[in-house]
Amino acid sequence: MLIAGNWKMFKGPEEAGAFCRALRDAKLPDDVDVVVCPPFVSLAAAVQSLAGTEIGVFAQNCHWDTEGAFTGEISAPMLQELGVYGTLAGHSERRQWFGDTDEVVARRVHACLDAGLHVIACVGETEQERDGGATHDVLRKQVAAFEPDPNLVLAYEPVWAIGTGKTATPETAQDAHETIKELLDVPVLYGGSVKPENAEELLAQPAVDGALVGGASLEVESFAAICRAAARIHS
Ligand code: PGA
Repeated sequence: MLIAGNWKMFKGPEEAGAFCRALRDAKLPDDVDVVVCPPFVSLAAAVQSLAGTEIGVFAQNCHWDTEGAFTGEISAPMLQELGVYGTLAGHSERRQWFGDTDEVVARRVHACLDAGLHVIACVGETEQERDGGATHDVLRKQVAAFEPDPNLVLAYEPVWAIGTGKTATPETAQDAHETIKELLDVPVLYGGSVKPENAEELLAQPAVDGALVGGASLEVESFAAICRAAARIHS
């Protein structure tokens, strides 16, 4: 079971360092893999504050080339030099606001895996696509961009559930996860308004291998509560 906290554009270096020190003291369960994804400028502080713990630090995005004329981008070797363990890729906010197409996401994912980073690649349908009955087709098209890899995890994040408080029902999540797993045999996290109150029933679904948490990962207490809910499913 993997619980990843996607901080989005929250927490500068100072706040990130303080958060990670508090997370370290929160005594998270041993049998759950825990990852935080701070913004680029806070990665070094997070790596430093979490040194010697099992908590991994991931970036939120990464370019496919090792270096070059790509203003505003960051490469896998640069992340690795900092001690970063992996990266998110293809988050719906990247797809929606920064033009990351399936092809761009695939380039990012393959290059990062080749470089030795772990990758959590996000897929998921919009509300309009779900209402139009296109969910499975959208997932098929998005997942087709990837190949199985031992360091690849997918996250099913229905766009209509991100930051909206509208969580997918456990059955909806299970159904989408089954579709994804039929296409690609990798662990699949659920993301979209995961909170301490709904984490356990979502994580209890057999095809749900963990959670990608946005808003509720910004407070140590709620993030730790979700990690503990994951540990309860295990035992
Ligand atoms: P949320 O975000 O938990 O705030 O809905 C999830 C995500 O975007 O990864």
